[in-house]
Formats: sequence, structure tokens, C-alpha cells
Amino acid sequence: MEYTTLGPTGMEVSRLCLGCMNFGSGQPWMVDDEGQAHAVIDRALELGINFFDTANVYSRGESEAILGRALADRDRAELVVATKVYGPMFDGPNGQGLSRKHVLDQARASLDRLDTDYIDLYQIHRWDDTTPIAETLSALDHLLEEGLVRYVGASTMPAWQLMKALHEAEVNNYERFVSMQCEYNLVDRHEEANVLPLCADQDLGVIPWSPLAGGFLADKYQRGKEPEEGRAATDEFMDKRFSEEGWAVLEVVRELAAAKDATAVQVALAWLLHKDVIDAPIVGPRTVEHLEDNAGALDVSLSPEEIERLEAPVTPVWNRDIGDV
Ligand SMILES: NC(=O)c1ccc[n+]([C@@H]2O[C@H](COP(=O)([O-])OP(=O)(O)OC[C@H]3O[C@@H](n4cnc5c(N)ncnc54)[C@H](OP(=O)(O)O)[C@@H]3O)[C@@H](O)[C@H]2O)c1
Repeated sequence: MEYTTLGPTGMEVSRLCLGCMNFGSGQPWMVDDEGQAHAVIDRALELGINFFDTANVYSRGESEAILGRALADRDRAELVVATKVYGPMFDGPNGQGLSRKHVLDQARASLDRLDTDYIDLYQIHRWDDTTPIAETLSALDHLLEEGLVRYVGASTMPAWQLMKALHEAEVNNYERFVSMQCEYNLVDRHEEANVLPLCADQDLGVIPWSPLAGGFLADKYQRGKEPEEGRAATDEFMDKRFSEEGWAVLEVVRELAAAKDATAVQVALAWLLHKDVIDAPIVGPRTVEHLEDNAGALDVSLSPEEIERLEAPVTPVWNRDIGDV
């Protein structure tokens, strides 16, 4: 495994982060079998992955609890556990958002579910229009001072909001976000026109989600054919990837994969790993086989010309279609 330091920090993370959104229930595309989830997490650890991403809202806490049980007997000091707050955890007042109240309550609840004394990277899952960012930052600072959180990060928002948060942190002397978790893959490149230049300028770590476009880039779907299996068969969020541009990108991915004796998955992830701004793509394998295929991306190199070919079909545009949590 290769390691890097996350953004401006000295904390070492594997160059692949294991996303745990798939582990839990509630959606047909999820891994409802805890044994299978543990097998993927165990194999990730064997491969040297030390970086894990989850969120309170993933299956309303199930994902955190599964991860907590899977990591229970491991050397916590080596591991980097990231989770998030913002999404709805219960109906009624104060069930979601980034108020001081909700953030402090949810941090405690995440610590319980993860069965750990601290969260390495605590991220705001989205921007909260109803809470002043200074209130959120002061709540996060409190968690940092208490030793319950080691670093704070952000996820998925317009660049002006991220810059506003960095500014508020500076003028109020709160800890800055060290990372941005945003959607980024060969077909969804809108962040090149939004947060990525800002992250490069402000020295933030970038940990992209859906690095395989939810499986579209795994070359498992056929043009003009309704998906019958895989996440796209049941997840409407996948629809946007089934575009002329998407198929054109996949065509280049297939050609390069064949030429390099690699898989489409490995070419797509290798493209992200070649970007200076990227620290660690957050992969979402459902099975050990998926994970091993993903990990093979670390051995694939791409020339500047190949990268240009992969990027040619898409013109990045920031369209604010950031999706719910
Ligand atoms: N911050 C946010 O708002 C946000 C949003 C989304 C995700 N995330 C994070 O990012 C992580 C990854 O997201 P993601 O699951 O969308 O990532 P992804 O890697 O783009 O997609 C994962 C899916 O790709 C398919 N796949 C993966 N490896 C494969 C292989 N070798 N062969 C064939 N198919 C393969 C599987 O689909 P099938 O199920 O079709 O087999 C799997 O469920 C999540 O776990 C979560 O931690 C964050």
C-alpha cells in the first residue's frame, strides 16, 4: 500500500480510503450481510488500508456500528476513522443539521456506535443554510479541545461556502478544515470547476467519493440497455452517468484497460491517483473481489497523453447538482 499525509496534516493515510456507505440496509444495492462487510474490511486491513470513511446517516448509524465492530480488535493508533454529521438522524426538531446542539449530540452518538474514544476526521456532510458556520466551527472546536475529534473536514458544497468557512475559521481562530470530500470521477468532473482549484490553493486534502461513478466505470453496463443488475438497476442517482459523454469516457477507459492488461476499474482509479490534488479516493467495494480489483489501480501508470484522452469527452461545468445525503 502507498501512504500520503492528509492535506496539510502530518496524519498518514493509505492512498485508498475504504468507504462504508454500502455496509448496512435500507437500499437494495447495499450489503445487508455483516459477515460480508467484515470480510471486505478485514481484507482492506490486510492490504494496508488504514483509512475508513463512514457517516452517522449511513443506514442511520448501522454503517458506523458495523465498522466499529470490525475494527474492535485492531491497533487503533494506526487507523484513521472518518465520519460525518449533518444528515437526518430522526424526525422532529434537531434531528439534523449543523447546530451546536446536533453536532455535539451526534459526535457522542457516533463515538458510541464506532466504539472508539475519538474520531480522526470529523466532516460536515453538507452546508447547513440555517446555522451560521461560526456556530458549527465553534462546536467542532469544542470537540477538538475535548480530544474527541482529531481533525475536521468538509464535504460537497459550492466553493464560496468552503472559502467562507475557511475565512471564519481564520478570523475566529477556529481549527480549519483539512480536507474536502467531494464527488469526483472520470464522468463527474464538475468539481474541477468548483472546489478543486480552491483545495489546491488552500492546501486542503481531497478525498473524492464515488471514484467509479457508483460502478458505471466498472464497465458493467451496456449502452442502450436498461440495467437489470448492479447499483444502477435501483439507484436513480446513477441515471446522470448514462449520458453520451459517459459512454464516450468509458470507451477510452476500455481501450486503455485492454492495452495495459488492466481492468476498467483500475484505469478509472489510476486516473484519480495521478492527480496532484487527490490524496485518497474513497472506494466503495461491496465484495472482497471488488476491493482487490480496486487495489490493483496502484500498479497502473498513465502517460500525459493517455490522461488527455480520458479527459477529452467531458468539459467540466459546475452545475450545483450536489445531491442529498
Ligand atoms: N460525502 C458524500 O456526500 C458521499 C456520497 C457518496 C459516497 N460517499 C463515500 O464514498 C464512498 C464510495 O462511494 P461509492 O460507493 O459511490 O463509490 P464507487 O467506487 O464509485 O462505487 C462503488 C460501486 O461500484 C461497483 N464496484 C466497485 N468495484 C467494482 C469492481 N471491481 N467490479 C465491479 N463493480 C465494482 C459496485 O457496484 P454494484 O453495487 O453495482 O456492484 C460498488 O457498489 C462511500 O462508501 C462513502 O464513504 C460520500
